[in-house]
Amino acid sequence: MARIVLLGAPGAGKGTQAALLKEKYNLPHISTGDIFRANIREGTPLGVKVKAIIDKGELVPDELTVALVKDRLAMPDCEKGYILDGFPRTIAQAEALESFSSVDMAINIAVDDEAVIRRIAGRRMCKCGETYHTSTYGADECAKCGSKLYQRDDDREEVVRERLRVYDRQTKPLIEFYAKRGVLHTIDGNKGVEATFRLVSEVIDGRH
Ligand code: AP5
Repeated sequence: MARIVLLGAPGAGKGTQAALLKEKYNLPHISTGDIFRANIREGTPLGVKVKAIIDKGELVPDELTVALVKDRLAMPDCEKGYILDGFPRTIAQAEALESFSSVDMAINIAVDDEAVIRRIAGRRMCKCGETYHTSTYGADECAKCGSKLYQRDDDREEVVRERLRVYDRQTKPLIEFYAKRGVLHTIDGNKGVEATFRLVSEVIDGRH
């Protein structure tokens, strides 16, 4: 059983690592950001409600986000564990999570501010869920499905600045929250994707 929370600033590489962990450990990858973006794309009532909030770089209200994650964790594929990416993001969310699940490890991917800005500025997305970076992938189409890549609306510079402010104010305190519970592991996320993945895997395998 591995119930994992990935912590880290916007652009730290949570989604990238979660996708690799999902394959290696056969655990569901639950990204609240991906769930919201899928709802926005499909024009669902939830998507309509959250679009303006996300486009401004602010947080979706806790009640909405908690209810969504609670339902998702009740699904059978989460019985053997899960990888939470982008949740919890506030102390209130973390406390709510404790009322319906216990976290085995919170892995904090620590990345320097300049790297975070560089990573977000060069990030390109595909509607199939693949993520690329312009420094390592030069094509305009997805290597997996051939669809045209695009930049996230909330990856515009002024929105990124607000997301980083929100992270400092509302999400960073979770590092101490999980340290107090004895489940925090901080790894250096400034290295490449593979090197970071080795460090994250060492934590999960109990070698860190
Ligand atoms: P969300 O989608 O969760 O965004 P985020 O936390 O800001 O994280 P990102 O997706 O920007 O970054 P990441 O750490 O996953 O980095 P990635 O792997 O893509 O949330 C979006 C919005 O939804 C929020 O602002 C909020 O409004 C709302 N929301 C979501 N959850 C919520 C919640 N719980 N409560 C309230 N509101 C919520 O990597 C970034 C780039 O770097 C990529 O191009 C990648 O290829 C590259 N890269 C990754 N790792 C490396 C590496 N090691 N070396 C070099 N390049 C790398």
